[in-house]
Amino acid sequence: MKHDVVEKRIGLMGVLIIAVISVGGLVEIVPLMFSAPIVEPAEGVEPYPALALEGRDIYIREGCYNCHSQMIRPFRAETERYGHYSLAGESVYDRPFQFGSKRTGPDLARVGGRYSDEWHRLHLIAPRDLVPESNMPGYPWLERRYVDHTRTPIKMRRLRMLGHPYTDEQIERASADVEGRTEMEALIAYLQGLGTNLQGRR
Ligand code: HEC
Repeated sequence: MKHDVVEKRIGLMGVLIIAVISVGGLVEIVPLMFSAPIVEPAEGVEPYPALALEGRDIYIREGCYNCHSQMIRPFRAETERYGHYSLAGESVYDRPFQFGSKRTGPDLARVGGRYSDEWHRLHLIAPRDLVPESNMPGYPWLERRYVDHTRTPIKMRRLRMLGHPYTDEQIERASADVEGRTEMEALIAYLQGLGTNLQGRR
């Protein structure tokens, strides 16, 4: 029996197992790399403006993703609460993406425009002033810290190398766009943009 040859040699079996898994992996992964709805931006989706881009970094630094997902699943219970389910083409400018899976708080994929800037400011300083039963921590220091404007153009240039279509003009203006803005303003600019790009799908 030829099978015996494989079963009695663990080295050979290991190599064959790796070969089989690799082919299986490639068959699943490679088609996704060429699928336009997944790798190309959905209609109306633009790279983050300078201030929102900085806000996104603050979102990550503060670990908001530990309690908030940004991925609306295509189920009725989700779409009725949060809006149109998330499309892959909406996350093409998210590096790294913030899908998450932990929902101590609500999904934020389409929170943009749901509340006023002032609501967000008060909520981020002291969540329980607005939502008494909230267990979200406050982030009062964001009001006292300023965004490091010297790094914004560098970040945008790096992202352009990865294919984010920032124009020279946007990059030149970036430093001035965020100079003197607090981290609170940047984070709110990011939150207010979430999910608003996708035209006609809210
Ligand atoms: C310990 C978990 C936790 C962390 C960390 C956390 N949140 Fe929350 N968040 C919640 C909970 C719970 C709610 C729902 C109650 C409320 O509105 O305060 C909430 C609500 C929100 C809402 C309102 C969403 C809606 O649709 O009503 C926003 C916006 C928000 N959080 C943003 C943030 C941001 C930005 C950060 C990081 C700076 C953050 N959260 C960190 C738990 C958390």
